[in-house]
Amino acid sequence: MRITVIGTGYLGATHAACMAELGFEVLGLDVDPARVVSLSQGRLPFHEPGLPELLKKHVESGRLRFTTSYQEAGAWGDVHFVGVGTPQLPGSGAADMSFVESAVLSLAQNISKDSLIVGKSTVPVGTARRLREIIRENKRPGVSVDIAWNPEFLREGFAVADTLAPDRLVIGVASPEHESVLRQVYAAAIADGVPLIATDFETAELVKVAANAFLATKISFINAFSELTEIAGGDIRTLADAIGLDERIGRRFLNAGVGFGGGCLPKDIRALQARAGELGLERSMRFLQEMDQINLRRRARVVWLSRSMLGSLSQRNIAVLGITFKPDSDDVRDSPGLDIANKLFEDGAEVTVYDPAGNANAHRRFPHLNYLGSLRDAVKNAELVLVLTEWEEFKALTPESLAALTPARKIIDGRNILEHSIWDDAGWSIGSLGRRYWPARNVPSQDAAQLEVSSGSVP
Ligand code: UGA
Repeated sequence: MRITVIGTGYLGATHAACMAELGFEVLGLDVDPARVVSLSQGRLPFHEPGLPELLKKHVESGRLRFTTSYQEAGAWGDVHFVGVGTPQLPGSGAADMSFVESAVLSLAQNISKDSLIVGKSTVPVGTARRLREIIRENKRPGVSVDIAWNPEFLREGFAVADTLAPDRLVIGVASPEHESVLRQVYAAAIADGVPLIATDFETAELVKVAANAFLATKISFINAFSELTEIAGGDIRTLADAIGLDERIGRRFLNAGVGFGGGCLPKDIRALQARAGELGLERSMRFLQEMDQINLRRRARVVWLSRSMLGSLSQRNIAVLGITFKPDSDDVRDSPGLDIANKLFEDGAEVTVYDPAGNANAHRRFPHLNYLGSLRDAVKNAELVLVLTEWEEFKALTPESLAALTPARKIIDGRNILEHSIWDDAGWSIGSLGRRYWPARNVPSQDAAQLEVSSGSVP
C-alpha cells in the first residue's frame, strides 16, 4: 500500500515519517517548494523531538519522498492522508477551510487509480460529507475515489510517540471496505492493543473538537479557581492536587498558569462555537466563550502583576523567559508568553526575551521585541523576571543561580513551577498565578498595602 500525505506541517510531516517507520512507502506533498526541498534533504523546518532522526532515516532509505505535484501523488498513492491546516479566519472565530478544500479538489482531479482520501485535519462537523460531494463532482470518470475521516490527537513535543502509539484511533467511514483499508494502515498499533473506534463521519469529526474543548475547559476551570485563590487566599496547586486525586477528575491538565495557547486549543474552541452558531445552536457551545475569556484574562493578570510589582511599566526592564506556547516546541502561535511580552512592550516596558527554541519564530511575528540568545543575556539588566513557559532550563532556576546573573530580585512564576518559599526565604518578591501575592519581606509595608487594595480590581 502506497501512502501520500498532503500538507507537511506538524501533523503531515510527522504522519509521513511515522508511516515510513511502519514500513509503508510514503510520498509527502506540500505546495511550498522550499519546504519540499528542505524535507527532501532530511531537514525538518520546525522543532519536534525525535522527528528529525526519523525523517533523515527514511529519506535516506528512500521510503520517504516529497513532491509539490498533485499529478504525481494522484498517480502514485493508494491512500491519501490530508493534514493541511485549518487556521482561524481573520476577523472571525470560524476555521479557514480553503486549504482542505483545495487539497481535496486537487486530489480528486488528479487521482488516476482507485483510492481512498483520508482527512486528518481538524474540521467543522459536516465537512467530510461536503467534501465527498466535491470528490464525486470532480473525480476522473471510471476511477473510484471516496473519503474517510481519521482525526489526529498528537501533541506537539510528543508527536512521534502520539502517532506511533496513540491512546486511540478514531475513523469515520462510509463502508466496511474503507474501515478495512484503515485497519491495514494501522495494523501495528491495533496489534499492540490500541483501541480503534470506527464510526460515522460526523462523530469522527466531533470527537476531535470535543477532546480539545474538554482539555481547554479543564485548564480554564482551574484558572478560574486561580482568580479566586489570588484574592481569597489559598494555593491553587494544592487545590488541583486534591481534586485531581478523585479519579473521576484526574490531575492532568489542571496546571494553573498563563493558560493555553498554540495552534489548536484556542482556534478549535472558537471554530466549534462558530459551527454551533451556523447550526442554530449558539447556546450549546456558549460556555466555551467563557473558557476563552478566562484564558485570555490570565495574560492580562500577568501584565497587571508586573505593573504592581514594579510600580509602573514605563521604561522598566523586564526579562521574559519562555515565549513558546509550551516547552519542547518552537511554536509561538497564540502563545501566552509572547502575547504578554508584547503587551508589556506596548505598555512602555523595555522587554528582553529569551526562549530556548522560539526566538526565531517570535521574531518573525513581533520583530520589535529584543530577543537574546541566552538566559544570561536576557536577565542581565532586568528589574523583574517573568517565567512564562516551563522549559527544563527555567524549572532548574534557583534564587542563587538567578541572583548571580541579574540585579532583579522580583520574579513572576507564570507556570507554577518554582518553590515559592525558597525564593521568599532568599529575599525575592515572587508573584504567581493562583496564589496570593505576598511581596518579599523587605518591601515597604505601604507598597504591600497598596497591592492588597488594588487586588480587588484585578483583571
Ligand atoms: C493539543 C491536544 O492536547 C492534542 O491532543 C491535540 O491533538 C492537539 O492540540 C491538536 O489539536 O492538534 P498541543 O496544542 O500540542 O495539543 O498542546 P497541549 O499539550 O494540549 O497544550 C496546550 C496548551 O495548554 C499549552 O499552552 C499548555 O501550556 C497549556 N496547558 C496545558 C496548561 O496551561 N495547563 C495544563 O495543565 C496543560
